[in-house]
Amino acid sequence: MGAIPSVFDLDRLVLALSDAFDLVGVDKTGHSRRVGLIAAHVAEELGWENGEIRSLLRAALLHDCGVSTTGEHHDLMGALRWADSVEHCQRGAGYLASIPELAALAPMVAEHHTAWTNLCNRGVTEGVALAANLICLADRTDALLQGGVTPGRDLVAALKGHGGYFAPQGLAALDRLARCEAFWFALEEPVLSEALARRTALGPPELLDSCAVLRLAAVVGGIIDRKSPYTECHSGGVAKVSVLLGQAMGLGEATRRGLEIAGYLHDIGKLRIPDELLDRQGALDAADRLRMARHAFDTRVILTHAFGPGAIADWAGFHHECLSGNGYPFHLKEAELCPEARIVAVADVFQALAQHRPYRAPLIPDEIAALMDGMVFAGKLDAQVVAVCKEHLDECWAAATGG
Ligand SMILES: [Fe+2]
Ligand SMILES: [Fe+2]
Ligand SMILES: [Fe+2]
Repeated sequence: MGAIPSVFDLDRLVLALSDAFDLVGVDKTGHSRRVGLIAAHVAEELGWENGEIRSLLRAALLHDCGVSTTGEHHDLMGALRWADSVEHCQRGAGYLASIPELAALAPMVAEHHTAWTNLCNRGVTEGVALAANLICLADRTDALLQGGVTPGRDLVAALKGHGGYFAPQGLAALDRLARCEAFWFALEEPVLSEALARRTALGPPELLDSCAVLRLAAVVGGIIDRKSPYTECHSGGVAKVSVLLGQAMGLGEATRRGLEIAGYLHDIGKLRIPDELLDRQGALDAADRLRMARHAFDTRVILTHAFGPGAIADWAGFHHECLSGNGYPFHLKEAELCPEARIVAVADVFQALAQHRPYRAPLIPDEIAALMDGMVFAGKLDAQVVAVCKEHLDECWAAATGG
């Protein structure tokens, strides 16, 4: 199993998170990656320095982090502007402002749907205004592409038709790039990912310690939980219960921090589940069960990109596995499940049972303990972890519910 890194590469985390936020598009993914590369190419054409392009690229990759629901995502690829377009800009900027390492990106994200002619009244610097508008230009370019418009100068001409919306120098630079067929071909995978990896490796790596990653994970956990009113505080509760159980089981500090990060991010793959499916009451058909089961798989893929294979990615990605081998989506056997994955699985069940659901009220601690005993008997949860959980029942309840 891979170990927990002592430092984490910020650009690697940003790329992985960008992919996670793109999952809200369900099957229409890759938007933020394409916006990032288009914006970076336009900035390069305008002669920007590498450091400025790096910052713009990060903001472009995260520009839609304020969108958690498929309902809101639907609007993103439609009209140039819509009634509530400013909401996801401000929400996303708020998330970024609360993360010290990403706070400088917040003003660009806040203004990424503001028309160029209005940006001079927004109290931002010229540099931020142009960066925000280049994200807007790249965003609309991709929206037209995904809408079926043929790549080329005609597409840029369509954007020019929105007088005053885009900075003239940005449009002119895009127009020059648009003559080159390779500019458009480079927006297709796998060339797109290779180009982004090369670009993010241009400067010296910016490294985060595990405390900084934990702060970032806590914010991302809130974005995941915003997907549904019934999952409010779920990820935070799973993180806190996981740490508590890890502490009670005598695990070391680095492992406990990794457990907390895994707890915050264990459901990051849920960003791909359509809103109506997540909130649906009653039986699911086979196709919908498959969509639901996929979230733990997607979690592991994203966290492997973010943190490397093993450790955090496995602890989070295996949270629906069972000792009996009847869990999902990997159907691992008992011997393949490490203690940390068993802890996150117990914390996940505990928090979910302690939370209100559309079909039932929150369960009290004794009811949860009895249900978990049944799950141990059925080969779903680890007996030792559940025993520790029962020894610290009231503390787990407080951790799960924020009490
Ligand atoms: Fe947007
Ligand atoms: Fe889950
Ligand atoms: Fe969960």
